[in-house]
Amino acid sequence: MPNVIVVGTQWGDEGKGKVVDVLSRHADAVVRFQGGNNAGHTLVVDGEQLVLHLLPSGILRDNCTCVVGNGVVVDPRVMLDEIRELEGRGRTITPRQLVVSAQAHIIMPYHLALDRLREEAKGAKRIGTTCRGIGPTYEDKVARRGVVICDLLDADRLRSKLEAIVPEKNRMLVDWYGDEPLDVEKMVADYIELGEVLAPFVSDSVGLLHSIQRRAGSILFEGAQGTFLDVDHGTYPFVTSSNTVAGAACAGSGVGPTAIDEVVGIAKAYTTRVGAGAFPTEDLGELGERLRRVGSEFGATTGRPRRCGWFDVPLVRQAARINGLTRIAMTKLDVLSGLASIPVCVAYEGHVDGFPASLDAVTPVYEELPGWSEDISKCRQVSELPADCLRYVAHLEELIGVPVELVSVGPGREDTIVRGDLFTR
Ligand code: IMP
Repeated sequence: MPNVIVVGTQWGDEGKGKVVDVLSRHADAVVRFQGGNNAGHTLVVDGEQLVLHLLPSGILRDNCTCVVGNGVVVDPRVMLDEIRELEGRGRTITPRQLVVSAQAHIIMPYHLALDRLREEAKGAKRIGTTCRGIGPTYEDKVARRGVVICDLLDADRLRSKLEAIVPEKNRMLVDWYGDEPLDVEKMVADYIELGEVLAPFVSDSVGLLHSIQRRAGSILFEGAQGTFLDVDHGTYPFVTSSNTVAGAACAGSGVGPTAIDEVVGIAKAYTTRVGAGAFPTEDLGELGERLRRVGSEFGATTGRPRRCGWFDVPLVRQAARINGLTRIAMTKLDVLSGLASIPVCVAYEGHVDGFPASLDAVTPVYEELPGWSEDISKCRQVSELPADCLRYVAHLEELIGVPVELVSVGPGREDTIVRGDLFTR
């Protein structure tokens, strides 16, 4: 299998975890390259559900090493909880299976506190972050005052860093937000202890990925969130604090762009979004409610109900350009079964060419496509899909200009229809 980047083409929750799990069958490594435990990737294997927030979705495969790359922000407690949860299910996670970059930045207690306090202070103007400390951690990374994983392996070094950082954070926590101050010594003790447990997994992830390349192995890059949550290309400021697009896979893992063979975009057959921000095709009526109910559209990380709406072609077409998509995997097509007709946004009024700088005030132009009444969740071949269902996929494919090569009709590994060669190689 070639080296493949998988990214979300909408606002996250497109079902990337399942597609990465399907593709990881032939991969030597699965790499997370950005974001942190704001993500929630749900896998269903043999009827058993597993939600991963930080560990790559290949962790259930014995054939591949999972890499948490330098571009990820790591909450060590969450990482240990996920390792323990897997061990509780009878899977021992060894340092051969999990490699964490020594350069990944750490989500510290003051990042968690500030994320929550800032959101509370914003009131109605809040972004709706996951309150996992993601934004404040990336801020400190860019401001060159972050704590990286290798700092957790050396108490003197960690103490000296925190002595420089924490007084300023405490001023903000206490004087500005009226919260409790944090204690440096307690933090050093807690995080050195966490570092000791994580130490066996921490190593030279760049070296590992290059050795896989040298022996012509294949690497799967697992994006988190979606293209329109990207800090540069998304609906700013209602975005996450990292680059979520395919270009970030290289910087966030230390693999050069010339090594990338394919970029797969995951597109849900309709659209959802959690948190605030523009959503041109949002359906606030009964049909939107139906999508939420039938699609179980509740956040895997926060449990929040997701906002639901219709497929937005200009959005996904823009994602195809930004990410350089070579193929699309379309998920949750089964959720649309039973609708008499299905609205699809084919353009934004007044925007014939190009993509608007802001989606705040755009008016979608809809086409109504015929629906299908059959339950498609047991279909395993393209030929088993009802004609109107096939027409729906083919029409979107034509409008986006990228082939749809995998269709997902249910949460399990087996609930998948493969149309292209990438997924069978
Ligand atoms: P943050 O990433 O926690 O800072 O949240 C910023 C925005 O991104 C909020 O609207 C979140 O709901 C959204 N977000 C973050 N991670 C995910 C995800 O994995 N799926 C969907 N939305 C997400």
